[in-house]
Amino acid sequence: MLPSATAPVMVGRERELDALRRAHRETLDGTPRGAVVAGEAGIGKTRLLRELTAGLGPEVVVARGQCVARGVLAAPLSPVREVLRDLLAHFGAPTLLEAAGQMAGLVPALLPQLAEGDPPELRPEQLYDLLTLLLQELSFRSPLVLLVEDVHWADPPTLDLLREFLHVLRRGRILVVVTCRDDDLVAHEPLGPFLAEAGRARAVRMIELERLDPAQVAEQARSIGSAPAGEPELAQLARRSDGIPFLVEELLSLDGGPALPRTLRELLLARYARLGPVAQEAVRLLAVGGVRVEHDLLALVHDGRPAELESALREAVTARVVVTDDTSYTFRHALTQEAVYADVFPGERVRLHSRYAAVLAQRPARPGRAAEVAHHRVAAGEGAEALGALVEASREAYAGGAPLSAGQLGERALALWPQVRDAREQAGCTRAQLYREVAKAYDSAGDERALGVLEDALATVTAADPAGRALLLHEAMVVRYSHGRSGGVQLCQEALELLPDPQDDYGRFVRARARCGLGIALSFLLDPEGPGLLEEAVGEVRELLDRSEDPQVSELARWELVRALTNLATVRTGRRDVEETLAALAEARALAAPDPDSLLRVDERVLALLLDAGRFARARDVATDAWERAQACGTHRSWGAEMLLFRALATLALGDLGEARKDLDHVLTLRPVGIDRAMVAGAQIQLALSEGDLAGAQARYAASRDLVQEAREGDPGDDIILAFPLGWLRLAGDDLLAAWQEVETLWRHPALPTGLGERAVALGAAVLAAMRRRGVAPVGVPLGEAEDKLRRTLEVEDGAAWAVAQDWRTLVDAELSGPDGTGTDVGAWQVAVAATGHTRVPAYQHAYSLVRLGEVQLAADDRAGAAESLSRARQEAERCGFVGLLREADGLARRGRLSLTGDPEGAAREGGHGAASGLRLTSRERQVLELVAAGLTNRQIGQRLFISDKTASVHVSAILRKLGASTRSEAAGRASEVLPPQPPRGDAREGGGSP
Ligand SMILES: Nc1ncnc2c1ncn2[C@@H]1O[C@H](COP(=O)(O)OP(=O)(O)O)[C@@H](O)[C@H]1O
Ligand SMILES: [Mg+2]
Repeated sequence: MLPSATAPVMVGRERELDALRRAHRETLDGTPRGAVVAGEAGIGKTRLLRELTAGLGPEVVVARGQCVARGVLAAPLSPVREVLRDLLAHFGAPTLLEAAGQMAGLVPALLPQLAEGDPPELRPEQLYDLLTLLLQELSFRSPLVLLVEDVHWADPPTLDLLREFLHVLRRGRILVVVTCRDDDLVAHEPLGPFLAEAGRARAVRMIELERLDPAQVAEQARSIGSAPAGEPELAQLARRSDGIPFLVEELLSLDGGPALPRTLRELLLARYARLGPVAQEAVRLLAVGGVRVEHDLLALVHDGRPAELESALREAVTARVVVTDDTSYTFRHALTQEAVYADVFPGERVRLHSRYAAVLAQRPARPGRAAEVAHHRVAAGEGAEALGALVEASREAYAGGAPLSAGQLGERALALWPQVRDAREQAGCTRAQLYREVAKAYDSAGDERALGVLEDALATVTAADPAGRALLLHEAMVVRYSHGRSGGVQLCQEALELLPDPQDDYGRFVRARARCGLGIALSFLLDPEGPGLLEEAVGEVRELLDRSEDPQVSELARWELVRALTNLATVRTGRRDVEETLAALAEARALAAPDPDSLLRVDERVLALLLDAGRFARARDVATDAWERAQACGTHRSWGAEMLLFRALATLALGDLGEARKDLDHVLTLRPVGIDRAMVAGAQIQLALSEGDLAGAQARYAASRDLVQEAREGDPGDDIILAFPLGWLRLAGDDLLAAWQEVETLWRHPALPTGLGERAVALGAAVLAAMRRRGVAPVGVPLGEAEDKLRRTLEVEDGAAWAVAQDWRTLVDAELSGPDGTGTDVGAWQVAVAATGHTRVPAYQHAYSLVRLGEVQLAADDRAGAAESLSRARQEAERCGFVGLLREADGLARRGRLSLTGDPEGAAREGGHGAASGLRLTSRERQVLELVAAGLTNRQIGQRLFISDKTASVHVSAILRKLGASTRSEAAGRASEVLPPQPPRGDAREGGGSP
């Protein structure tokens, strides 16, 4: 009689189990948690999870996914799909679809059983969005425990998703537990980084399972019920098993059997070795299928009588080599499967893999099938058929939101290509086409391997296939540009030489596309030929679209035209033709309309243009519309985040700070990445500065410094985006040299990104004026030269049709006006006030100009003018919530003893009483006291308040009297009792400048 295989009671592991239970309990208030259970094969990872789930309440839903050891050929996302299948089984289709909300249409991409017709395509970001939404929503119905086993075998997209879940899931009653072997795999890409990252995440627990000690081994043996009686035998068991529970089980199963196994392999095969030959054969058949094989699949690959297979497997189950459930046979442990598989003779292995491949290929299609077929074909050495299966698997992976896997599978197919005689028939496409698909897959996964693939492609696909090579050359240009490489001109020129005079529409299309590419490449290099060539080529593509009777060409031409028009728009933007640019984009929008994704891509450009051209209200409306579409097509995290960011920039410029803040907060919950996140940080800094909240702006900067740094090291266009908010932050913080450094980013750009140059120059002018006032000079540049440099930048930036540039320029002139170039000319500021009032520059700049105008008017003793300007400034600042400017306007009014309309304190000043004064200090005296407390001399006080030193000293005496203080410092010490708390000071001008 065989002993029971497994201990009914789990030995030890109390601490580990407790940690998992605690993590689960913590999720119940809606905060997701994660855990990684790591340890050697057979140590008890799966067992620990079993104990965890056995102890959960009936309301908790457990879903499980298993990764398999197939390397690159693992069906992408299959563990994720298994988890979803469990959820579907528990919740049912209606609930699942309801939870997916607007994205319900995408669910069948993962659960094809729900599809009516062809399942939809899925992009990686949609996949993430969809799963996040589903899991969160379902978890509010029932708490979820999601288990993904053996992630050391996980395919890249599964690992990516898990990383996201462990790090960024913020809401939901969800516990995600993954297990992984850590024997010798930790250093392996990509698992090593995955584990290291998981270890740093606060919400993730790392649980490492140690070997059992001898006492625990004895306990396990007793629980199994076949423990040797003697101490020496128990000690030997502990030693030979190394404290690994699975080996304990296997050693116990030998129970007085023949010779003791000498190697681990022999031990792992011991149970198998005792089976009869027919059962062994069945187990080998199972091992070739994997750790787990469905009953009916096994029956189909088996070539004997069904009854024979059944009895063979019954024997294996009784010997506890294999376990069985409703649907499948599973090895009791993967270690056994690995050992049995290694024991299968090569000839048999090939034959059995071949059978699996043939049977699977006959089965109805379902996700992952192509990858499985490919795996068996490759293992069976069936190169030709493997090629076809790999191509199919690659395409399936791409459509299923797993582009990286698609690239890897496709690369395997390319490697087989030269060995397969009828490769083209097997693959169903040309080699050039396959190369392009693989490059495209890597490229959309953001993987640099795209470049290498194209290099190989160009070395392989010769001029014998001119159209194929030409398209590859074009693709190489696109991919090189997307990775910041150059060389597009040569690539496109070669493509054109390949097709001097195409005879059919397809050839003509390829040529027109290459000409578009050349036009773009030349335009990027600021070659004057570029734009004209691009316009011509766009015309050729348009003609093909209108005229060609070949539907394939029409379709290709449509999408090429969308791309080319969008590029043309960029070129026209460079020429400052707002209307022309919008026209190109309008045409692109009309063509792109059938595909929501392409439409959003065009809208991105429309929005960038509108913002640059200062059409903020329009930008806000377009962004709102695009945001709604992004949500509807399940891209709220990617496109959506971008559209909300655009809307925030528009509302910020319109002076609607509340709306801007709402959108920015929202964007952050969508978890934008890369430059977008840095842009959000920049916008937040700008927002805080607009509110006069210097500390808040500084905190924002500190929190996102790394991001900013990253953005600066990335695309060279990115650092100028951040220069504007950061420069103002430095200026407001009175760090003029650092502010100037931000200005200097201007000269690192051979061609300034549209719309950003003027802003940065305006910033530069403000910094320069402040430096002059303070006698500070930028490092290495005399002040006079600095001004020349700034103004020269504007000359390059100048453009007649770009009205917004003129508005910014008036600001520059005003900042640098007056005899000392410190911005003291009333007339110049009046011009700036008028120009900024056109609402093409942000509302902040208008209010800011009014404050500056009031200031210089006051200095010129135009009290009526100053009162009017500051009143208007006040009104603007109040309307928008520019608290810093409001304070500044009030401060100036106080010092000039002006009464402003709309200022309650000003009215109080009229009456001569300090509103908060219990000690009957006049409002003037309170102002003076403020400055005394700040340590200013009478002379400095006089300068600040536009009064003589003498008058200042009179006020100080009165203050001392009223406070009963005998010295200035005593009075200063009591100031806080008398004065309302003051906001912190910025630059020499109270509140400083800001965006
Ligand atoms: N602490 C334990 N007490 C008793 N049996 C255990 C313990 N840990 C593991 N086992 C048993 O050892 C075998 C291997 O464990 P398993 O959880 O499958 O290992 P892993 O998943 O780490 O490879 C299983 O049969 C399991 O029930
Ligand atoms: Mg396991």
